[in-house]
Amino acid sequence: MGQSADSRTQNQGLLDWVEEVAELTKPDDIYWCDGSKEEYEKLCAEMVESGMLIPLNQELRPGCFLARSDPNDVARVENRTFVCWENEEDAGPNNNWVAPDEMRGTLNGLFDGCMRGRTMYVIPFSMGPLGSHIAHIGVQLSDSPYVAASMRIMTRMGESALDVLGGDGEFVPCLHTVGAPLLDGEEDVVWPCNETKYIVHFSQDHSIWSYGSGYGGNALLGKKCFSLRIASIMAKEEGWLAEHMLILGLESPKGEKTYVAAAFPSACGKTNLAMLIPPAGYEGWKVSTVGDDIAWIKPGKDGRLHAINPEAGYFGVVPGTSTKTNPNAMTMIQRDTIFTNVALTDDGDVWWEGKDGDPPDHLIDWRGNDWAPDSNTPAAHPNARFTVAAVNCPSIDPAWDDPSGVPIDAFVFGGRLSTTFPLVYESMDWEHGVYMAATMGSEATAAADNQAAIRRDPMAMLPFCGYNMADYWNHWLSFADKGLKLPKIFRVNWFRKDEAGSFIWPGFGENMRVLEWVCDRVHDYRDAVEGPLGNMPRYGDLNWTGLDFTVDAFSGIMDLARDAGSDEAEAQKDLFDSFAGRLPAAMEAQRQALLKSMEDAPEVWRIAG
Ligand code: OXD
Ligand code: MN
Repeated sequence: MGQSADSRTQNQGLLDWVEEVAELTKPDDIYWCDGSKEEYEKLCAEMVESGMLIPLNQELRPGCFLARSDPNDVARVENRTFVCWENEEDAGPNNNWVAPDEMRGTLNGLFDGCMRGRTMYVIPFSMGPLGSHIAHIGVQLSDSPYVAASMRIMTRMGESALDVLGGDGEFVPCLHTVGAPLLDGEEDVVWPCNETKYIVHFSQDHSIWSYGSGYGGNALLGKKCFSLRIASIMAKEEGWLAEHMLILGLESPKGEKTYVAAAFPSACGKTNLAMLIPPAGYEGWKVSTVGDDIAWIKPGKDGRLHAINPEAGYFGVVPGTSTKTNPNAMTMIQRDTIFTNVALTDDGDVWWEGKDGDPPDHLIDWRGNDWAPDSNTPAAHPNARFTVAAVNCPSIDPAWDDPSGVPIDAFVFGGRLSTTFPLVYESMDWEHGVYMAATMGSEATAAADNQAAIRRDPMAMLPFCGYNMADYWNHWLSFADKGLKLPKIFRVNWFRKDEAGSFIWPGFGENMRVLEWVCDRVHDYRDAVEGPLGNMPRYGDLNWTGLDFTVDAFSGIMDLARDAGSDEAEAQKDLFDSFAGRLPAAMEAQRQALLKSMEDAPEVWRIAG
């Protein structure tokens, strides 16, 4: 392995940076990734040799491997994630902040010699279709072969990215170490990492430094760190949007195509929605997947917003995936997938909670221990993941790799909310839509009184916006003044419950009915009823072919009780107060308008007709 750097790139900025980092981190070797299939296979073979990957039964899961992480390295570490602006106010209350100089001092100490005994992989990658005007280049330096292999799946990685970078192109520098140097020939462990973890973003030079974790968003720096936190900063500077959104295409039987970008907090089924299969009654409709997690959205010459999925793969949560919740994903992860922290069956296949069928009598759980159905710990870690190429997805959209992106007609925002919030409603205008998105959230059960409180997650970006969220809302509002044909904005809620505590809405494929109404509104095929929260469909405005859903059930999921609406408007005050000083006046004005319309509303507001 290994080719001299100069034969790969003439980019002096990159060559200097690699040398500078190598001097600091002191790896035994430096390896420039070319992104080839042979290289991927070699990396995997080496990891099988070291015990980091377990090959699965090649008849059942061709090209698939299982990795087991350290039990203390299983998820993103939000409390160890920092955004370093000179001025703390610019980071906002939504970020952990340390002054850049102080953080540089800490990191220089930690990174000194951190790659001893290891290979430093130079991983050039494009976030977005190669050469797209919406895409950007990054280069990750990492001492983890698991990261190098995963980056080949998750991004357009290797020589092609270096070609786009060219001799004088700019890149986002992403420095990563597991923080476990091997001193004096020390034996490696299966999943090296460090108890100390830092996931750091510097606003000024757009650089990322990640220390101590080998898992997911902490380590695959193209994803949350670059495509959301750093990209959100770039987007504000340059007039575009970097969002925590899936992108899907809807093609009607007439052949009319509508693209929707949708934001939901983690654990609301984004991957399932992105890969939805239309239910019975929707023959002739096609749903296709552009992305399941992140959208980069820029104004196009046609005055519309165009989106790309910056990623080239899916790093999705495995537990809960089944032929009921996501048949496309079940096909997608049948081959060429790296599974992390799922359980291993006796015949070399994988298993997880929520998979179809009963659990086998015996498994090896995600920690490597024997497991039986009466064990009182889960077989797969709840945040176990699949890493798989986007092209494996049976519903991949034909334009998913189009450098000009896809035109977005609607933004959809949703959360997990058991009361008050209707199945779907549409904003009155852009400003109202920004307010609807800014106040979204999911329920968190407050342990003390078992009352459901809403954990606000504006635009599903709370953990991912790299700057003060109030400035971010202003940035969103500013799109109204750019002379663009903007998408319509909707809120949805699949999770409302009836008095007995059961979900009212069947969800999954049936969500298509709501998406069809969204298309109808986008193309002006239907009018809507103006309610206190926004524009809403009547029962007869949704297509019920193939589903038995009564008018009463519809009322149960659409009615708005006056007290609940007022309480919600009051509760939003806490969120807005936390951004006092920078909060756009329009946000508070919208809240006051909601308070007022709830005062004037009947005890229960119900759609007529
Ligand atoms: C993710 C998340 O992993 O949003 O995509 O947490
Ligand atoms: Mn996500």
